[in-house]
Amino acid sequence: MKRLSTFFTACLLFILPFSIALGEYERSDHGMVASRSELSSEVGRDILAQGGNAIDAAVATGFALAVTYPSAGNLGGGGFMVLTLANGESLSLDYREKAPADASRDMFLDAAGDVDSNLALNSHQSAGIPGSVAGLLEALDKYGSLSREQVLAPAIRLAEEGFILNNDIAGQFRGQFNNFRNIPASLQTFSNAGSLYESGDRWLQADLASTLKAISDQGRDGFYRGRVADLIVADMQANNGLITHQDLSDYQPVWREPIHSTYRGFDVWSMPAPSSGGVLLVQMLNMLEPYDIVSLGWGTKETVHLMIEAQRRAYADRAEHLGDPDFVDVPAQRLISKEYARQRFANFNPDQAGDSATITAGSWINESPDTTHYSVMDEFGNAVSVTTTLNRSYGSKIVVPGAGFLLNNEMDDFSSKPDTPNSYGLIGRVANEIQPGKRMLSSMTPTIVTKEGKPVLLTGSPGGSTIINTVLQVVMNVIDHKMSVEAAVASPRIHHQWLPNTVRYEIGAISDEVAGALQAIGHQNLNGSRFPIGDANTIFVGENFVEGVSDPRNVGGVAGF
Ligand code: DON
Repeated sequence: MKRLSTFFTACLLFILPFSIALGEYERSDHGMVASRSELSSEVGRDILAQGGNAIDAAVATGFALAVTYPSAGNLGGGGFMVLTLANGESLSLDYREKAPADASRDMFLDAAGDVDSNLALNSHQSAGIPGSVAGLLEALDKYGSLSREQVLAPAIRLAEEGFILNNDIAGQFRGQFNNFRNIPASLQTFSNAGSLYESGDRWLQADLASTLKAISDQGRDGFYRGRVADLIVADMQANNGLITHQDLSDYQPVWREPIHSTYRGFDVWSMPAPSSGGVLLVQMLNMLEPYDIVSLGWGTKETVHLMIEAQRRAYADRAEHLGDPDFVDVPAQRLISKEYARQRFANFNPDQAGDSATITAGSWINESPDTTHYSVMDEFGNAVSVTTTLNRSYGSKIVVPGAGFLLNNEMDDFSSKPDTPNSYGLIGRVANEIQPGKRMLSSMTPTIVTKEGKPVLLTGSPGGSTIINTVLQVVMNVIDHKMSVEAAVASPRIHHQWLPNTVRYEIGAISDEVAGALQAIGHQNLNGSRFPIGDANTIFVGENFVEGVSDPRNVGGVAGF
């Protein structure tokens, strides 16, 4: 249900010069799940109501999303989880895909030395070794309280008994139909015997149900060894893919120290490398913290200029310094230090746009619903923030025959060629070049903000390169602009990523007057568009209540109890 709260809307209309739709909203006393899929949020909510903790609910929601939201929910992809536990511990789990052992630096270059983006995005070679199953089971094993069978049961039921397709998902299948048409297992999965599914049809996924049962019965071996592994490897061998049995059985998720910093008295916990998300989020917050954003105001020339310049500098650092820390030395602590932010921002000129020097202007690629974020809070004080993806929408579009799930195309997140944009227009260098067994750099930014050890805000988003800026703005809207969580998520967003030197913004984020003022100080290429930036399914934790909101830019669902 879309709810227009009179109070919040009044506040929002006061702050913003136009009216915006708010997302699905729920407030409850105990726990909350906010995700892109109502059915999956309900799965998580039921687990919480059974007495499960936030980790149990996040794992159940994650497996359910693989069934109900196939463009990004996945078994064949990867993700990141940030957790703050009731006992005060903060953790992050990296289950990002890895390059297969047979991958090589120049594998996506054609004879002329150019990146073959079709190979990097739409082939068996575009798939990294999937991490989601290992990651979700690892989280459950270490911090869950329910059994594997209990948390997988709802996903198995949804796959086996099917569910009624809504407009959103049926529309996605229609939009992707041509991509699936020539891949028999994909056509079989996403069409009704070759015809389009309509909203209202029941969608059953028998092959996926048997894969989920194998995982439920055998744990990670049900995916990384045995029948499912055989199906993956057979499909690889038949199609020039690289993933081997050894790659699958070797795959391990990694617990990493989360990125931690403070912002105006709040603690911020986010994802470390191989995501660039946490580092860049903190870099930008550090650059902004010395400024009185509250007085400068939301959407003003001064605030927007500050944000663009922070974004420009942080994203420039990403291209040079960020990569898989198991392979390259990532100077994360230096990048996130307040001292470094002061130095980096010392050349900020309030009256002049910065120069992305030597820039070749380009345009961004429109994002599609290809990554998803969900947030889970339980009544015990545990908070879980998860972003997961196949990379582009429906990943490589390739369903593993007989196994019922899509392969990711995450290999395109590597820098296939130095200083050459990937599908998000992001450039990279040696730190993110392809190497066997390496994880590709990500922008996913699952984040938890705490105050005096207690979770306040759980957020994250899809959107490729825009993810980090979406999270930045949700955090600023709550902490600086004191917005309600609904308004914080609904408010229109801006995005700059250093290169291309373009300020992309949602209509309403920058008024015509402010756009003129920004141009006058040298911000070129201001592009306002109705195309949405991000999908931040977010939870706010109050004194004795929890609020969940699904981003109004998309269909979604919140379920509390
Ligand atoms: O890990 C990353 O940064 C990308 N593969 C995420 C892709 C994404 O967010 C697409 N969503 N719209």
